[in-house]
Amino acid sequence: MINVHVIYAHPGGHGFTGEVLDAFREGLAEAGHAYTVSDLYRMGFRPDLSRAELERRDGDPVPEDVAAEQARLDAADVWVFVYPVWWADCPALLKGWFDRVWSVGWAYKPMRLRPARTALVLCTAGYDVAELEASGVHQAMRTAMITDRIGGRAERSEFVVLGGSTLRGDDPRRWAEVRAEHLRRVRELGRAL
Ligand SMILES: Cc1cc2nc3c(=O)[nH]c(=O)nc-3n(C[C@H](O)[C@H](O)[C@H](O)COP(=O)(O)O)c2cc1C
Repeated sequence: MINVHVIYAHPGGHGFTGEVLDAFREGLAEAGHAYTVSDLYRMGFRPDLSRAELERRDGDPVPEDVAAEQARLDAADVWVFVYPVWWADCPALLKGWFDRVWSVGWAYKPMRLRPARTALVLCTAGYDVAELEASGVHQAMRTAMITDRIGGRAERSEFVVLGGSTLRGDDPRRWAEVRAEHLRRVRELGRAL
């Protein structure tokens, strides 16, 4: 059994990203893995780095909500980020989560966190992967999330884009196939961790 912590950033409703989260949880449950979820919108997580946080030095306390997130990550072997692609990146709430939770003295200068065995990014997108690669957006998103934000904080990282959700309105029959394949893949990723 491994301990998994999921950081989920979607405002809610019956969207595809929620289905991805559910399929991933099913895979985790099938494999008997333990997991916790930080549902950032539901928690009302504050994304803005305050002046006091900006000016704090290594050794100064971090805010309670930041300490709680760091404790969940330190307790987990695997970190999973689930979110929709918005304007070629994660939602601003998740970006702000990094601004605050990746604090000095924990995530860097020096890095005291317990590195994850695996960091897995699952993002849903309107465009399909071929389109995102052709525009360079796929590489840019991967570089920001995996090379920069995760970096050496995980021993192994994987970046998965579950694209093509514009088909929902444009070609519902094709979307049913694409959606089913994405959900099958995500469930298997949860099971095979
Ligand atoms: C504000 C906003 C910006 C978006 N920007 C992009 C984008 O840059 N690239 C992309 O492929 N899809 C983009 N999309 C489409 C979303 O990625 C897509 O609707 C989402 O993954 C579907 O998940 P949901 O049904 O859970 O909301 C955007 C959607 C919104 C609402």
